[in-house]
Amino acid sequence: MIEQLDVNYDTLIPNNVGLSEDRRVLKALERWHPGYINWWNDMGPEGFQEAMVYLRTAVSVDPKGWAKFGYVKMPEYRWGILLAPKEEDRKIGFGEHKGEPAWQEVPGEYRGMLRRLIVIQGDTEPASVEQQRHLGKTAPSLYDMRNLFQVNVEEGRHLWAMVYLLQKYFGADGREEADELLNRRSGDEDKPRMLGAFNEETPDWLSFFMFTYFTDRDGKMQLESLAQSGFDPLSRTCRFMLTEEAHHMFVGETGVGRTIQRTCEAMKEAGIEDPYDIEKVRALGVIDLPTIQKKANLHYSLSLDLFGSEVSTNAANAYNAGLKGRYQEDKIDDDHRLLDATYPVSKVVDGKVVMVDEPALTALNMRLRDDYSSDAAKGVGRWNKIIQKAGVDFEITLPNVAFHRQIGAFSDVEATPEGVLISKDEFAAKRDQWLPSKADGEFIASLMAPETQPGKYAGWIAPPRIGIDNKPGDFEYVQIHG
Ligand SMILES: [Fe+2]
Ligand SMILES: [Fe+2]
Repeated sequence: MIEQLDVNYDTLIPNNVGLSEDRRVLKALERWHPGYINWWNDMGPEGFQEAMVYLRTAVSVDPKGWAKFGYVKMPEYRWGILLAPKEEDRKIGFGEHKGEPAWQEVPGEYRGMLRRLIVIQGDTEPASVEQQRHLGKTAPSLYDMRNLFQVNVEEGRHLWAMVYLLQKYFGADGREEADELLNRRSGDEDKPRMLGAFNEETPDWLSFFMFTYFTDRDGKMQLESLAQSGFDPLSRTCRFMLTEEAHHMFVGETGVGRTIQRTCEAMKEAGIEDPYDIEKVRALGVIDLPTIQKKANLHYSLSLDLFGSEVSTNAANAYNAGLKGRYQEDKIDDDHRLLDATYPVSKVVDGKVVMVDEPALTALNMRLRDDYSSDAAKGVGRWNKIIQKAGVDFEITLPNVAFHRQIGAFSDVEATPEGVLISKDEFAAKRDQWLPSKADGEFIASLMAPETQPGKYAGWIAPPRIGIDNKPGDFEYVQIHG
């Protein structure tokens, strides 16, 4: 059934949730809005709030045409509240309420758990905007700058989406949580964001691309599992967010791919065959492949931490309750209860990384992380195709899950990227071979000169194959001076 696909623009907040008939929630959101704009002005893209940016705005949830493109100043972007269309007679698909009608209101017994899931998801959305706020100034092209800002405004919209759920369904404590989402700050000592990877810096554009490839993909997996939720408004919100999230990962995958491509081209032109001849490659003004590997090691390992402990009773409880499912739960052929099932979990036993069967219910984080890893490996394969095609002898690999971990079974040990456990001293001695060193960071920073001529690209990155919204190569994606 299709209902209310178009966005209602007659209130301040574009929406397809009938806000104008819901005075209480509309008032609450209108009260929250100025604080959000203050946050955006303080913590959003630095130096470009007056620029005209060619952005897509979600205007509908119709899969055939949900967005329109046009120039807009970011503080005037229409952040809307859009839920995927309601499915008639939707049933809870898993856990102890499997087969019961999906909830349209918060089930009282799960109120706390549900609120926490929404707040944790909500907290990641503004965090990445904060992490990326300095990058506009060093954009390698107007095309890339526009993509950065697109990701930023959509993360802002995702915050709106979560705040709507809090305001509509959680009363006074929902309002409090909504305010707190604007008070925490990425990397802040007193009020940090809730999850580790969202308190790290995003110092340069290669980090940005790695972040959107690896960390936004964690977001995708979390949204996928919340899209299965028995709490129908959460499910519908997440389903629509996923359509936007796809672009964020596209920006990451193609950004890293174009960086790799430019490096390989420059090596070829200069007749350099050894990818490990780092000094010579860097002298060409491109990022050497071993350094790109180190960045991948860093962002992949930080993103793995976002899945939490491999064995978790919280995950089991959320599943039993019907609040958070597995990746593509509705396509899995089993009983969707998992009471007797097991799942192999990686662990340290006698100084080695081994797989041990655990109850499938408590192993749900591990399972989602596995699904994430195989999803992440696909794009890495495409990066390697670019390297192969250029005839360079190098392969990007994802490190073992035991490598460089802060959360879960491997948080107390150190491991090589191949997964061999080593001492802390050995790790410290080799760290700079596996993870970006200070010198690597300084080299990359030295390449981050802005390129603001339409159609021109910084020397370290190849142009994209096609423009956004089919625009020609010299399209002015950002009119910097408004
Ligand atoms: Fe998001
Ligand atoms: Fe995202």
